[in-house]
Amino acid sequence: MSTTTHAPRQIDPSASLHAESLGQAPHYRRLAGRRIVVVGAGQRKTVDPDPPVGNGRAMAVLFAREGATVACIDIAKDAADATVEQITAEGGKAFTETVDVADPTAIAPALTRCAERLSGLDGLALNVGISQGLSLPKMTVEAWDKDYAVNVRSHMLFAQTALEIMSPGGAIVLTSSLASQRAGGRNPAYESSKAAQIALGRAIARAGENKGIRCNVIAPGFMDTPMGRDASRRRADRALTVPFGRQGTGWEVAYAALFLISNESSYVNAHTLFLDGGHLGGIQRDA
Ligand SMILES: NC(=O)c1ccc[n+]([C@@H]2O[C@H](COP(=O)([O-])OP(=O)(O)OC[C@H]3O[C@@H](n4cnc5c(N)ncnc54)[C@H](O)[C@@H]3O)[C@@H](O)[C@H]2O)c1
Repeated sequence: MSTTTHAPRQIDPSASLHAESLGQAPHYRRLAGRRIVVVGAGQRKTVDPDPPVGNGRAMAVLFAREGATVACIDIAKDAADATVEQITAEGGKAFTETVDVADPTAIAPALTRCAERLSGLDGLALNVGISQGLSLPKMTVEAWDKDYAVNVRSHMLFAQTALEIMSPGGAIVLTSSLASQRAGGRNPAYESSKAAQIALGRAIARAGENKGIRCNVIAPGFMDTPMGRDASRRRADRALTVPFGRQGTGWEVAYAALFLISNESSYVNAHTLFLDGGHLGGIQRDA
């Protein structure tokens, strides 16, 4: 009788890392002349001395590298300005618009201002998202409402105005999360608001049909971004089972957004793209 042992597999994380994963690939003007707003285009500060790129900054930088002019909306002026500086230092075009998206009265005027400055609007990437990190027993009405105001209501209000002022044939992309499918974080306001975004994305796509405006949702899994690092500091075992022996990068989120906001995806609509290395599909390592 033989016994089988299941030793942990050795995986070389670099095998799945490409120039695109690291934001070092050549560019092909896939968004030439497009006018795009990225909401949450800065990135949070963390204790890391050399932080990785965040999802929103990577989107804004990549869109500009691919030829778009980018309006960078964020509550933190310095964070958005840093994104704009990176874009302009690379020869791209971008500007900052400072807005607190938790304020429902601020959204339509801000998006309208951006569209005026861009001389039109072809794409909207809704990346902003927050988490108070409270478990169900500790949840408060204030924390719940704050997560929903930023993660869901603001997206609805941005989309409402975008569908009025966006050029026909434009595209909207939302950033949900793998947390929309799993209770792993014991974080119900975040998890349920991220699940609501998936339904909202479909509703936006439905409302955009008569202008040929598409809406799709990206749902990243375990990402090595400043946000991901903050989550790992709260839960050290957070990402031990990730596929490929590594977490994803902000650039990988940005490349998915690039496809969905470009005309390359012109018949992709009302979908959610899980960007998780296959984690949801059962590709997990032993912890
Ligand atoms: N680990 C991950 O990075 C991960 C995994 C899954 C999903 N996501 C999703 O990705 C998105 C964020 O990724 P990121 O890397 O850009 O995060 P980030 O926290 O680094 O950046 C988000 C930006 O949003 C801004 N912001 C926060 N509250 C705001 C408000 N009220 N008004 C305007 N701007 C505000 C912040 O100032 C920050 O610059 C979220 O939607 C999140 O749910 C992230």
